[in-house]
Amino acid sequence: MPPFPVRLALPVLVCAVLSVPCLAGAAENPPPEQKAAAAAPAVSAAEAAEAKQIFAAQCGWCHGSYGMTADKGPKLAGTAMTEQEVEERIRHGKPGYMPAFHRFLNDQQIALMAKYIKSLKP
Ligand code: HEC
Repeated sequence: MPPFPVRLALPVLVCAVLSVPCLAGAAENPPPEQKAAAAAPAVSAAEAAEAKQIFAAQCGWCHGSYGMTADKGPKLAGTAMTEQEVEERIRHGKPGYMPAFHRFLNDQQIALMAKYIKSLKP
């Protein structure tokens, strides 16, 4: 009676557990807030998860693939705008093109979205 089902099941289980954070995306709860104590220029995993949740709810119906592809709105990865300009665009929108989000997102969320968009590699 060789115990091979166990030997097969274990690596599968380990892979599943390890890949969960990568696949979680917008659907899952964001991981508990990790304090980015070290000066992190990039977006932390927790911030990216939160940004993607906001993106899915607010931006995804016009901007494709979390900013990576064009849809009704342009691709956001590699934008020529500065982080500040991106914040202003999110806050005030562009009449006739994109709604203003200052009533739906607070300053901290707008700053997070700008930081997230600027972190996207085209
Ligand atoms: C109703 C559709 C719509 C929604 C929703 C929307 N956008 Fe846009 N967005 C656009 C369009 C259209 C443009 C291009 C406007 C133009 O021609 O300058 C744009 C442009 C932008 C730009 C400027 C890109 C560049 O390089 O010029 C940024 C940044 C941006 N959107 C971010 C966001 C974010 C973040 C959200 C969610 C909070 C969002 N947008 C939601 C339609 C939308």
